[in-house]
Amino acid sequence: MSANLSLSFRLRKLLFAALLLLTFGLVIYWLTQENKPWIVPAEYKSLKNPLPPSESNFTAARQIYAHECAQCHGDSGKGDGPEARTHYPLPADLTNAKRMAGIADGEIFYQISEGRRPMPSFKNRLTEDQRWQLVLLVRSFSQPSECSGNLTGPTASSEPAEK
Ligand code: HEC
Repeated sequence: MSANLSLSFRLRKLLFAALLLLTFGLVIYWLTQENKPWIVPAEYKSLKNPLPPSESNFTAARQIYAHECAQCHGDSGKGDGPEARTHYPLPADLTNAKRMAGIADGEIFYQISEGRRPMPSFKNRLTEDQRWQLVLLVRSFSQPSECSGNLTGPTASSEPAEK
């Protein structure tokens, strides 16, 4: 009898330990989930940006970015917009040169077009040209020397601050 009892006690302890381990595993899995690489169709990867990095393209991109992207990605693309903390996974840091170097223009175009929760899809909200303009801007976040992409330039500060 008592042997049986201690067996079921041991079993319960074992079950408890297993449950604890499972919970622990799930938490680790959840924590390491964010910002997995995107699966981008091959036909997008090889796309080249049809637009030149001209000042007018950057100006247009900055305006779209301020309205559509900055609330999550932050004014300079660091992923620190006012809404950023309310999202999971966190908005990617677009200034991370190492990360962005591994992403082709066509992939950024795809990411903006399709989105991935919680990031919305922009293919119906923005024209192709507007999305390519944003690709130029996103690129510039991790290559600050090429053309200043951040919103602290004269174009952005002349816009009324959004509340
Ligand atoms: C609602 C918040 C939100 C908005 C608005 C938003 N994004 Fe995102 N964005 C995210 C999140 C979150 C991720 C990371 C998603 C993931 O890794 O699954 C992301 C990822 C990206 C990536 C991929 C970066 C990488 O490292 O893989 C790019 C590029 C990007 N966003 C650009 C934009 C642009 C450009 C806009 C505006 C047109 C925009 N986003 C609007 C939340 C947002």
